[in-house]
Amino acid sequence: MPPTAAPQKFHLAWFASAGPDEWNAPFASGGGRPWNGRFHIEWAQALERAGFDFMVMEDKLHVSEIYGGDARMTLKLGALTPLQDPAPLAALIGGATRHLGIVPTLSTLSYPPFLLARLCATLDNLTEGRIGWNIVTSGEDAAAQNFGLDKLPERELRYDMADEYLDLVNRLFASWDADAVVLDRTTGTYADPTKVRPVNFEGRWFRCRGPLNTVPGPQGRPLYLQAGASPRGRAFAAQHADAVIGVANGVAGMKAFRDDVRRRAAETGRDPQRIKVLFLVSPVMAETEAEAVRRHHEGVHSDDYVHRNLAFLGAFTDVDFAEFDLDQPLPRKLETNGGMGSLDKFQQWGSGKTLRQLVADGGSTGSIPLVGTPEQVADRMAEAMQAVGGDGFLIKAPFGHISRRYLHEVTDGLVPALQRRGLVRTEYTQATLRDTVLEF
Ligand SMILES: Cc1cc2nc3c(=O)[nH]c(=O)nc-3n(C[C@H](O)[C@H](O)[C@H](O)COP(=O)(O)O)c2cc1C
Repeated sequence: MPPTAAPQKFHLAWFASAGPDEWNAPFASGGGRPWNGRFHIEWAQALERAGFDFMVMEDKLHVSEIYGGDARMTLKLGALTPLQDPAPLAALIGGATRHLGIVPTLSTLSYPPFLLARLCATLDNLTEGRIGWNIVTSGEDAAAQNFGLDKLPERELRYDMADEYLDLVNRLFASWDADAVVLDRTTGTYADPTKVRPVNFEGRWFRCRGPLNTVPGPQGRPLYLQAGASPRGRAFAAQHADAVIGVANGVAGMKAFRDDVRRRAAETGRDPQRIKVLFLVSPVMAETEAEAVRRHHEGVHSDDYVHRNLAFLGAFTDVDFAEFDLDQPLPRKLETNGGMGSLDKFQQWGSGKTLRQLVADGGSTGSIPLVGTPEQVADRMAEAMQAVGGDGFLIKAPFGHISRRYLHEVTDGLVPALQRRGLVRTEYTQATLRDTVLEF
């Protein structure tokens, strides 16, 4: 018998937040309290035990008043509110793990480039090379208003500014050579001044003298993760990102998304193998398929879920879905200056589905529906990856908030099933996050 080829491995990461965990379901606990990071440490340790590449911390910089026109629903549902700052949490998690990558979301709207580069370099040192940066430009006027602006710049302009921002932070990360610290006792020299250079950056929007006053981290610069899904967002990702959060409907949509990102990367002269697309999914699992289907059905049809999902999506896209009838199709194709990629994926324009149906099949399940036993879900993930070509999945808890129970269904049910098929890592072999993500 000819030897069967080992299956192509794919990557797993988790889409997390520094917000509340599940608090009002039968297997729920603290809703975030106490806010001391211990829950997130446990979460990270479970992911590390299961061999995840990294944990992303989504973030927002405002209390959304979009859904229903004020903050009442946002606060009632705990929809992307409250959120702690993911950067100190990343440091705390880093101290309690050894291999897992940690990817806080930091917005180009809020951080001056120098501070962001310094923060990332510090975190990369503290975690010994396991930091990523989820690069976002923010998509909400209310966030802009927390930083002295009247409204958010238009998408094209935001991305143009972000291109310049990346140019500057890359120069700051490179402003110290890796071997700049010489600790030469004979000459009494700490750092070699020929290996530390100012950047003297004069852009359209940013000016910075440099150099960074921080020793660069083991990765030189953090892993860059990006989630813009509009054409302009994809162009940005193709140019800069090491990994991309993929949002698409179905296997064909996933393949088209990945092919597009890779084509764009190749056009900028990059090796497409060095940009990994991870697709958002939210598996719903149980001991039997029937029970998983029941849990999924009950989850996506609960009023709590429908409103929480629309409040989440509203906060992301700056669209007030409370204006629309839940039992009718959307009356028009929606446009936004916020997250256009997410909105397009959600609205499935032309499908004729009611808003409630869009929530039920778009909101909870991510790129493909994954409902069944861990073995069934593992098989479907394998089939999807085979058809798409790679590169992995980003798991997000279904129905809004995370619980320990859900976490362990994935780390102790799904992941072992994937490992038995040789589809995901069983151990870490690389020293830094970027090398882990590029390992296969
Ligand atoms: C899956 C996903 C996750 C995102 N996470 C965040 C986030 O945590 N914080 C944030 O401000 N924006 C987030 N964004 C917004 C994007 O980074 C981007 O700024 C926004 O979608 C606008 O880009 P687009 O119009 O190209 O999609 C996310 C987008 C997607 C699709």
